[in-house]
Amino acid sequence: MTMTLENKRILLIVAGGIAAYKSLELIRLLTKAGGTVRVILTKAGAEFVTPLSLSSLSGDKVYSDIFNLTDEAEMGHIELSRDADLLVVAPATADLMAKMANGLCNDLASTTLLATDKPVLIAPAMNVRMWEHASTRRNVARLGEDGIHMVGPNKGDMACGEYGFGRMAEPDEILAAISALLGPGKLPLQGRTALVTSGPTREAIDPVRYLANRSSGKQGHAIAAALAHLGADVTLVSGPVEIADPVMVETVHVESASHMLDACTSILPVDIAICVAAVSDWRVDSEAAQKIKKDKSGEVPILNLIENPDILATLSKKSPNRPELVIGFAAETENMIDHAKAKLAKKQCDWIVANDVSVPDQAGSTGVMGGDKNQIHIVSASGVESWQEMNKQQVAADLAQRIADHFANFGKTE
Ligand code: C5P
Repeated sequence: MTMTLENKRILLIVAGGIAAYKSLELIRLLTKAGGTVRVILTKAGAEFVTPLSLSSLSGDKVYSDIFNLTDEAEMGHIELSRDADLLVVAPATADLMAKMANGLCNDLASTTLLATDKPVLIAPAMNVRMWEHASTRRNVARLGEDGIHMVGPNKGDMACGEYGFGRMAEPDEILAAISALLGPGKLPLQGRTALVTSGPTREAIDPVRYLANRSSGKQGHAIAAALAHLGADVTLVSGPVEIADPVMVETVHVESASHMLDACTSILPVDIAICVAAVSDWRVDSEAAQKIKKDKSGEVPILNLIENPDILATLSKKSPNRPELVIGFAAETENMIDHAKAKLAKKQCDWIVANDVSVPDQAGSTGVMGGDKNQIHIVSASGVESWQEMNKQQVAADLAQRIADHFANFGKTE
């Protein structure tokens, strides 16, 4: 998608976090895309970046003080917020998000956010424990209910030395979210409905044990979010994962393959179905009602496995409810393209996205499953498209755009 923000005015609020340095790059990207940027810098934000660097990049003065009479005369907090097409808070600290969620205002940034009648996008950035804290979870949920848009945070190493969710989204991701909100005209997937499956399934053995796999849900969740960013109305059916539900997406939580199938079929009809979940191929034929105990004789229990329903194949079956575009994923360790072609024929879907799960990613030994990177090949009746290795967010964004292009080129067939 070409990103043009010609004639768009963005009010960027820079709060106090180490990620504030990325806001400088964000201003550069926004102005390069044709947008006009005006900056509010909080007192804490000024500890991390200087007004001089922000004003040099934005080409305007930086606003900080709510009680500055000259500014209030020229451009008060009401005018600042009304003059913009979009307010962007990057980084959005836990403190500022808490204020926003509760309608508190005691400085220029929070007062402007309360006074605005324009859309607001936040890019949270904080320590992982702060992000996971119950009060932040409540604030995020409330901000979502209030119609605040959110991009990120991402998972990764933090300046404080910890690892997890809380890294601010990268400037190019924030730019993409801004373009999706402000970009020209209708979003490319507006009016389309999509169903995405993600994560592993858990197949109960007894009340405490289950069969599962290492799927993290990262790729499926990112795809659901990317489709929503392009305007689709998305339902995500997720197995048990440790990552947050994406914003702007309705998420249904399930455990087993049978639950996942029931949830998916109840969501039909949809235009697009993408099966990213690593559905367990088998389940035990009958779940024990009580915890299976060790036998004194030393005999080990024998688990009889039966095959699970194939959700992708079920959704792909010819029927009046068949989604117009059904996409499956194929995690392979060898002969990827051949196996993907065979899977396309067997499951009767429209595209198979094949990825090699045999190669450990650069971060360590987790490989594609659970890792952050992915390299995919799209196999369809019209051939094979091989993409270079990217992070999973980028794969998701490009795949969503590829789907939008598909609909733009072929239109609705019904
Ligand atoms: O057959 P295999 O598991 O390799 O196929 C992978 C694709 O099929 C993925 O898109 C996965 O989500 C989907 N699948 C499914 N239901 C199953 C098994 C796989 O939807 N029971």
